[in-house]
Amino acid sequence: MLHNEMCRMFGIELPVFGFSHCRNVVAEISRAGGLGCLGTAYYGPEQLEMELKWIDEQVQGKPYGVNMMLPQKYETVGEALDFAKLPQGHVKWQTQLLDDAGIPPLPPQERERLLQEEIDRIHITPEFADEILEVALRHPNVKLLVSALGSPSRAILDRLHARGIKVGAMTGKVEHALKHKAAGLDFVIAQGTEAAGHTGVVSSMVLWPEVVDAVAPMPVLAAGGIGRGRQMAAAFALGAKGVWCGSIWHGTRESDLTDEMKQLLYKAKSGDAVQTRSKTGKPGRMLSSKYTQAWVAPGAPPTLPMPWQSVLNADARLRIDRARALDFMTCPVGQIVSLINEESSVRQRIADMLEEFVTTVEGLGEATGLAGV
Ligand SMILES: Cc1cc2nc3c(=O)[nH]c(=O)nc-3n(C[C@H](O)[C@H](O)[C@H](O)COP(=O)(O)O)c2cc1C
Repeated sequence: MLHNEMCRMFGIELPVFGFSHCRNVVAEISRAGGLGCLGTAYYGPEQLEMELKWIDEQVQGKPYGVNMMLPQKYETVGEALDFAKLPQGHVKWQTQLLDDAGIPPLPPQERERLLQEEIDRIHITPEFADEILEVALRHPNVKLLVSALGSPSRAILDRLHARGIKVGAMTGKVEHALKHKAAGLDFVIAQGTEAAGHTGVVSSMVLWPEVVDAVAPMPVLAAGGIGRGRQMAAAFALGAKGVWCGSIWHGTRESDLTDEMKQLLYKAKSGDAVQTRSKTGKPGRMLSSKYTQAWVAPGAPPTLPMPWQSVLNADARLRIDRARALDFMTCPVGQIVSLINEESSVRQRIADMLEEFVTTVEGLGEATGLAGV
């Protein structure tokens, strides 16, 4: 069943694609017949090598993918990222916010090292992106590369294609989808504003068919707001050839989120996943917390451009985590957070989604009165 164009492109059983930073989730999606894609942001080359080696051992020859930042221009390169270069007014405001909440500062003897480690993870230069790409190319089960930011260059695309790797890219706008098509990519992922992470403003309901029509016959995966079978059916009805899910894996036992964070997500409602610039400086959907709320409260400074906002909040993230300050904790999550209510597993989530998908599609004739017409 469900053997369509995207299944044939990758030799997989289900057109269910999943994004995660967590290797266990990625491997399990691929083992279940879909295609897991590892988010490589925050991984250095050595760490990534270890993760991919581990996934290779788990997937038993099945394909999986990597999601990378391959920007064509870099806003900050070289040694430029430095906590000391942040605007002091912003640092003071953030420090005060956490002090007032009784969240202790980082221990002075460890602070510099801890911050530097965080900043190193944010630091993406062309050389760094190349190293990450080289690591991915060493793993033959990597059959997909998804660009998180813009189309990859022609040279990279040709290299990937020569290795039999298909290339997709995220898009929240028709204009960007058209650029990806012109660049020669294999498919696009149309991600509505409901989604976790960096998002545009157009909802999935409007974006998916717009992108499908604009890039036809290039296939489109639907992302943003898909966590159950009825949503999957809607994606196909709107012209998508498969689904790309991110948030729904948060509630699985394979996810490496802390138990505390999982508990926060179980309680959250769809409206608690808010668009905020407080993490990276670009709008991204995250769980609302006292930290995200403070950034839009009266008296808050404007957020800094990318990547400086991430440099600024490195200190806050570390302080909040170490103090286990639950009401300040946040993570990227989409509006389907309301479907994440208890611990499940990747396989169970996929099975439930498919079961509801089939019932929905089969029931449409009756629901619309078209059955037997
Ligand atoms: C924790 C988390 C981190 C994400 N980080 C990235 C990223 O680094 N690159 C990217 O292209 N998409 C990222 N996304 C977005 C996903 O690729 C996906 O498009 C999105 O989660 C789909 O919408 P959904 O959250 O409603 O399922 C992230 C999603 C989550 C849940």
